[in-house]
Amino acid sequence: MRKAIFCITLLFVLGEAYGQSGHELWLRNKTDVAVNVICKESTPTLEIAKQELKQGWHGQPNATVTLSIIKDKAIKPDGFRISLNSIEATSDVGVLYGVYDMLRRQQTGQAIIEELCNPSYEIRILDHWDNLDGTVERGYAGHSIFWRKENPFEVTDKDKNLWQEYARANASVGINGAALNNVNASPMILSADYLHRAKAIADILRPYGIKTYLSVNFSSPKVLGGLSTSDPLDPSVIKWWKDKVKEIYSLIPDFGGFVVKANSEGQPGPQEYGRTHADGANMFAEALKPYHGVVMWRAFVYSANDRDRAKQAYEEFKPLDGKFADNVIIQVKNGPVDFQPREPFSPLFGAMQKTSVMPEFQITQEYLGHSIHLVFLSTMWEECLQSDTYQKGVGSTVARCTDGSIYPQKHTAIAGVANIGLDANWCGHDFAQANWYAFGRLAWNDHLTSGQIADEWIKQTFYPSISETKGAALYSSDWRQNFLVPVKRMMLESREAAVNYMMPLGLHHIMSANGHYGPGPWWAPPGVRADWTPPYYHQADTLGVGFDRTTSGSGAVSQYHEPLASRFNDLKTCPDIYLLWFHHVPWNYIMKDGRTLWNDICYHYDKGVRQVREFQRIWDKAEPYVDTARFKAVQRKLRAQFLNAVLWKDACLLYFQQFSRMPIPYDIERPVHNLDEIIAEDRRSLQH
Ligand code: GCU
Repeated sequence: MRKAIFCITLLFVLGEAYGQSGHELWLRNKTDVAVNVICKESTPTLEIAKQELKQGWHGQPNATVTLSIIKDKAIKPDGFRISLNSIEATSDVGVLYGVYDMLRRQQTGQAIIEELCNPSYEIRILDHWDNLDGTVERGYAGHSIFWRKENPFEVTDKDKNLWQEYARANASVGINGAALNNVNASPMILSADYLHRAKAIADILRPYGIKTYLSVNFSSPKVLGGLSTSDPLDPSVIKWWKDKVKEIYSLIPDFGGFVVKANSEGQPGPQEYGRTHADGANMFAEALKPYHGVVMWRAFVYSANDRDRAKQAYEEFKPLDGKFADNVIIQVKNGPVDFQPREPFSPLFGAMQKTSVMPEFQITQEYLGHSIHLVFLSTMWEECLQSDTYQKGVGSTVARCTDGSIYPQKHTAIAGVANIGLDANWCGHDFAQANWYAFGRLAWNDHLTSGQIADEWIKQTFYPSISETKGAALYSSDWRQNFLVPVKRMMLESREAAVNYMMPLGLHHIMSANGHYGPGPWWAPPGVRADWTPPYYHQADTLGVGFDRTTSGSGAVSQYHEPLASRFNDLKTCPDIYLLWFHHVPWNYIMKDGRTLWNDICYHYDKGVRQVREFQRIWDKAEPYVDTARFKAVQRKLRAQFLNAVLWKDACLLYFQQFSRMPIPYDIERPVHNLDEIIAEDRRSLQH
């Protein structure tokens, strides 16, 4: 008897611990409500669909749901038609997406009416910056879930289980692709051992509708194949890639294709042989074409010269418009520099009209506080997707310029740089899971609002399970009022708060070189290329601050379509949020709100700090509604975020004050750090 009690207690404790680790993500709510599922066919994917319905059913007890695969031209691949008791799709994976949608609607209290649901993008992919030794570039959630240093080629049951959980989470939000390795790719990924491991992963991901992609190194023919060149026009190189592609497809018949970072930040590329990006990309495209594979060729390029880095991708790629094969997709970061807390959209969106172009977002928080700061990135991506490029008149948003609504793209795609690692909660921060979730939801529907996404995520992630609420009505008003509403508000404000305490009013790239976490506007050691140093971007002097990208400066404004070019070019019409991105502005310039620029900068930093304080209050008050483990973990992180926000504010204000020579307004909390000490500490940590 005592043994039995011990076992039950142990199970309970383990269950609690597991339940509270955050490992189950937004997929926590299992039920035992009966449902009758009718489905004539059987495939591994359909079996998953049936099981998901049975274990997650929140509808009428004993209801009947019919899953069917039909022919219907209105339903795109992966799309489905949903109604209260049926899901129809043209493929088994479409049915699976329909099932996840039905369960989400039930669990979040959304109506289920007859509706046709097609994805905005054909390819919705996570790019993992995972190295083959198991480390993750810009990863803040532990080591890779795919690769490791010890026993690198052993595939254990634990591996398979984790990959399956990963695949399920992706499928539940509509993600259908995974690039398994870093864009700074080791040629070794194409060696037989690694390809076999990739095959093992692909086999697990496949039933969940997820295709496997690999990042490849342009010099692979030379480094791995022993050829004397990697020139994309050399017949031996072309043959090497064709043979390699054939080998990959023999292992992974539904392989998706390659992601390529070429001639960027030291990575090799076609320009080494006097060839263009189009020559390089088309070589891969030809090799992949017979198997329906695609090439995602990244436009993240810039070289060390004195030209404006923000202009370079456009200058290199725009002239190549129309020269790419139709299975090449140009992968463009949301902004023209590099995933900064705020950038205007990249002018390449909408400008390349005869080429498939895809947005690349960064889910991992490289420049937004790693897995320490609570920053919900959905609002940033929504801002980018809904930005009007005006390329084909009013309403030519980035979303519509990339999802096939405006240009007849052969392929449409969207990529997110993953924030996933071996940490029990996958993402390092419980709220960073929301960014994974949001990326998937926006990739599926690029018109969703961040408000809806946050609402869904909070309900699925934090509402007590059915067993805990003993079947009580969904979402009590107490829970809504005291948890959902304030927590949602915190999430929706969080990115703007980070912009405020890190880089307000268009400031950018002023972070520390030390891991891109804290502030570092001073960092410019001799010998380091200028476009890697913050002073290159903020250009602070005694006259003012900001990068002059107007027609009398670098001219970057001219890469935008009218009326944006003129709007950005004129100090008076340039939106405040981009002011110092496009203009070098005098410290005493009077802003739209009547304050001087200097005072406005100070108030923005201060506001950011106060916003994080408010987040702490919101979270502390939410304690009764969250399990202890997750409550404490988030509370600790918010405390660290607050301290870091204060550091950002003090460092930036004291640093810029050396140029503005104006007082920090006296109604603002005084700095608590000394600039010389912050700089000394930054240098010390850089040396380690
Ligand atoms: C950033 C990041 C690098 C990454 C690069 C890229 O610069 O710091 O780690 O390799 O982006 O997107 O290729």
